[in-house]
Amino acid sequence: MGKPLSELQQEIRELARERKAIILAHNYQPPEIQEVADLTGDSLELSLKAAKTDAEVIVFCGVRFMAETAAIVSPDKLVVFPRLEAGCEMADMIAVEDVEELKARYPGAPVVTYVNSYVEIKAVSDICCTSANAVNVVRALPEKEIIFIPDMNLARYTQRFFKDKKIHYFEGFCPFHDVLTVEDVEKARKAHPEAVFMAHPECRPEVIDLADVVRSTSGMLRYARESQAREFIVGTEVGLIYPLKKQNPDKEFYPASEKMLCKAMKIISLEDLKKSLETLSPTVKVPEDVRVKAYRAVARMLEIPRT
Ligand code: 13P
Ligand code: SF4
Repeated sequence: MGKPLSELQQEIRELARERKAIILAHNYQPPEIQEVADLTGDSLELSLKAAKTDAEVIVFCGVRFMAETAAIVSPDKLVVFPRLEAGCEMADMIAVEDVEELKARYPGAPVVTYVNSYVEIKAVSDICCTSANAVNVVRALPEKEIIFIPDMNLARYTQRFFKDKKIHYFEGFCPFHDVLTVEDVEKARKAHPEAVFMAHPECRPEVIDLADVVRSTSGMLRYARESQAREFIVGTEVGLIYPLKKQNPDKEFYPASEKMLCKAMKIISLEDLKKSLETLSPTVKVPEDVRVKAYRAVARMLEIPRT
């Protein structure tokens, strides 16, 4: 159980009811935002929810590519995103020209695009993936040569599952996952020798090699709930520690490194959220011609079964 809602949080809930709005929050959002949301989840869960909700308004607490995904799959809804400047440093690394260059270099190879990218990039892609389904997405493709953008770490992790496929990747990365080093993990293991080390696939290959389990953020939440282990070293953005502790009050969670802090994920405040619900702004809108192209790639991903 979380803490009782504050007055401001109660006002937000009331406004959400009046506005027929659903509040979606990513697992890295600050605790007070997670508490007031209708649903928290990883990128895949939030995309699925955005595609299926009956609410008239989706208020997205996360980073911009996530709100864009909601606008791509739900064009008839108003997608409110309280702070437009909350971007993603990985998504910023790739431009449409980079994708065109890769397509020219590997003709016929389908482009698999991690959802952590902006709508223009999705629009020139064949299919999207998240950290929870990247392996299933690549498995579902008949081609033997794949272009994977923009995360080289997720691409290299996915490659481990395929002897018969070659994944060509763009050299983007998440600075808040790529920052985790072997030395950091060794230090954490020394301090907590009984702990299970969970890593996000955005971590470097040499860090993945040390992991006991590799999971998306919600995958880590599920794993920690179901595991018999009592202690965990968490190799992802530090915001995940809050729901981990909340769901497992009798277990211990240690950040693999305090450096794993995504500033963009902490921008939206309760005050921003309240103001956005009052004004139903700012909103994320994507041009229809771009949206239609991006939708094909996202919808194709959503058809892939989650195992
Ligand atoms: P998840 O899809 O695992 O929640 O990850 C999103 C993200 O931004 C990771 O950095
Ligand atoms: Fe982007 Fe990394 Fe932040 Fe996730 S943690 S939103 S990939 S910068």
